[in-house]
Amino acid sequence: MSTTTAYPDIDESPFTNPFVHEEVRTYGIEEDHIPETLEDVSVQFIHPQGIVRDYLNKQFRLAEEKLNCPALVIGKDVWMSLTPMEIQSAWVPLQLAKGIVYTTGLGMGYFALRAASKPDVDKVIVVEQNPAVIRNFMAMHGKNPLVDKFEIYLGDGVEIAAKTKADVYFIDPYQTLLPSEVPEHIEYFRTHHPHFQGEAGRQHLDTAPIYRFWGQELVYASALYGTDIRLPDELKVDPEEAQITATSAYSIMTDADRAFLQHWMDDDEKNTMFDPCPDFEYIQQTVDMLTRITPFNPSVFR
Ligand SMILES: C[S@@+](CC[C@H](N)C(=O)[O-])C[C@H]1O[C@@H](n2cnc3c(N)ncnc32)[C@H](O)[C@@H]1O
Repeated sequence: MSTTTAYPDIDESPFTNPFVHEEVRTYGIEEDHIPETLEDVSVQFIHPQGIVRDYLNKQFRLAEEKLNCPALVIGKDVWMSLTPMEIQSAWVPLQLAKGIVYTTGLGMGYFALRAASKPDVDKVIVVEQNPAVIRNFMAMHGKNPLVDKFEIYLGDGVEIAAKTKADVYFIDPYQTLLPSEVPEHIEYFRTHHPHFQGEAGRQHLDTAPIYRFWGQELVYASALYGTDIRLPDELKVDPEEAQITATSAYSIMTDADRAFLQHWMDDDEKNTMFDPCPDFEYIQQTVDMLTRITPFNPSVFR
C-alpha cells in the first residue's frame, strides 16, 4: 500500500497516460480498500472515460485504458481526485518542493505524500480545517512511513501559512480553479509573513520563500497567451497592458513552470485547445500580487 518511489523529476512530462496511471498506482488505494465514510467525508472512485478534462485544456483524449481515480467527497462535493488535471496541476509545486514544505489543506494527501517522497524534503507541515478529513487520511495512510515526515495541524491554513516558517508553500484550500479569494490570500501572506515585513521587504525577494497556489500555472499561461493578442476580441484587452502582464509573468516564472509549459506544448494537438482565463483583470491582479513576493529573474530575457 505504501510507496517509496520518489516523485519524478523535471524531465518527465505529466501530460501522458503512463504518468497519470503511475501516480494513481503510487497513491496506493484500491477501490475495495477504502475507509468507511467518516461524518460527511468519504473516498469514492470515479472512472473517467473517453474525453477527459486536462489541466490546461477544456478536454483531452484519454487512452481507452480504464482509469480508476480515487476522489475525496465532502458532503456532496468532490474536493479532490486523482484525475489527470489534478495530477498535472500538482506537478510544478512538487518539482519545487524542498526542505520544509507547507501545504493547506490536506484533502486526499496526494500533494503532501508526493512532497514527502522527495529525498530533499525534510518535513511537510499540513494544515487542514476539517477534522474528519484528517481522520479519513489517517485511516488510509496512517501506516505509510512517509507520514513520519508530516506535522498535521487543524486550523485555517491561509492564516497559519503567514505565521509558519517554510521553504515552499502550496496553498490549496480551493474547490474550484482560480476563485476570487486567490489575490486576497497572496496579499494576506505578503502583509503578514515576517519575510516581507519592515523596510527591507521587497529588497529581499531573492531569498523569499516559494509561494504557490493551485492554479498558478493557468494564470501564467493565460498571461502569456495575451502577448500574441490571440485573446478573443470581445475581451478588449489593451495590447500594451497584455504585454506588461505577460512580461511580468514570464519574469517570475520558475524553470519548472517553463518546463511544464514546454512539456505541454510538445503536443501540438493539446496546446491548441487552450482556453485562457477570460477575466484578464483577475490575471493582471494576480500576477501583480505575485510579483511582490516572487524573485524576478532577469536572465530569462537575454
Ligand atoms: C482541494 S482539497 C486539497 C487537496 C490536496 N492538495 C491534495 O493533494 O489532496 C482542499 C482541502 O482544503 C480544506 N480547506 C478548505 N479551506 C481551508 C482552510 N481555510 N484552511 C485549511 N483547510 C481548508 C478542505 O477541507 C479540503 O480538505
